[in-house]
Amino acid sequence: MKTEYYLLSECDESVFERAGKVIREGGLVAFPTETVYGLGGDAYDPTAAERIFAAKGRPSDNPLIVHVAKPSDAEAFAVTNDTYYKLAEHFMPGPLTVILEKKDNIPKSVTGGLSTVAVRCPSNPYAVKLIESAGVPIAAPSANISGKPSPTNGRHVYEDMDTKIAMILDGGDCDIGVESTVIRLEEDGCTILRPGEVIARELALVVGNVYVAEAVTDPGAAGENPESPGMKYRHYAPKAKLVLVDGTDSAFADFINEYSGRCAVLSYSENLGDYKDACVLDAGSKESAQEQMHKLFSVLRSCDEIDCDIIFAHLPPKTDEFLALYNRIIRAAGNEVIVLSK
Ligand code: TXA
Ligand code: MG
Repeated sequence: MKTEYYLLSECDESVFERAGKVIREGGLVAFPTETVYGLGGDAYDPTAAERIFAAKGRPSDNPLIVHVAKPSDAEAFAVTNDTYYKLAEHFMPGPLTVILEKKDNIPKSVTGGLSTVAVRCPSNPYAVKLIESAGVPIAAPSANISGKPSPTNGRHVYEDMDTKIAMILDGGDCDIGVESTVIRLEEDGCTILRPGEVIARELALVVGNVYVAEAVTDPGAAGENPESPGMKYRHYAPKAKLVLVDGTDSAFADFINEYSGRCAVLSYSENLGDYKDACVLDAGSKESAQEQMHKLFSVLRSCDEIDCDIIFAHLPPKTDEFLALYNRIIRAAGNEVIVLSK
């Protein structure tokens, strides 16, 4: 299939009309959001969902997020409640996805056979325009080949999706760089199924108690039946083996400098000069979870262009601010961690 590619900064409104029509006719359009790029299809069309799974090479038991232009649009296909609207008031549009009971018009192929549906209202204006133009909610996973790092710019999407989908809308770099926070509502609060830019402390101010699913920090805990099915797959991985290192910055530098093979290092910006022979990539400031999240997937993808046998990265702290980073990078590393003694 020929994939049409549009640089949105150089396009007028007509490209959204065209993209909306493609979606309504069952085709797929990759589009920017504030988190990562999505691979969108009509959420009411089971064939579109099948096409999404095929283009990604994704297991079809991993449900898709349904994107809406405004929070109340979820009424059409999900059972909403007061907590949903309270959350929407604070965090939507934005990087929060809420799991709700689904109505019958959402096909089971979209929800991986579940009776619930994930709802997200993105803040990226291009994403909103596309949803409005389509006139239907848009089911969209991240627009990467399953298992690879999620795409955070148009080039990443092109690498993974050229010839597989009808259209790519290139809206530049994504602001956040990791996927939305996914939560399930509870009687007394909510449970984080996938951490993201919206963190537990912020959610707690709105819903009360915030729990964190075990699989968030322990990929093994999920077994075959995690609460959020996406959590059971190894994910975000570069081609070379990625290993995390837990230790002080100086112990980390000593470890790298004593390593004899061809390695790459994801280094904090503050420590770029600390390594002798390694190929060093800037992972962002040690102090800034936001900066590291923004760079993570792009840096992991650039590892594939480097001639190295192994990549080492710092194990992030497990704190609220760094939880999304921790969650993504332990999956990218297949949970392989070396603990340094000093
Ligand atoms: O930021 C994002 O959320 C991006 C952009 C494109 O919006 N989308 C995204 O979609 O990350 P995806 O498909 O790559 O990840 C969806 C996650 C998976 O972990 C999936 O298991 C979970 O959400 N999920 C979807 N529906 C669910 C449901 N009904 N119950 C539990 N988890 C669900
Ligand atoms: Mg994904």
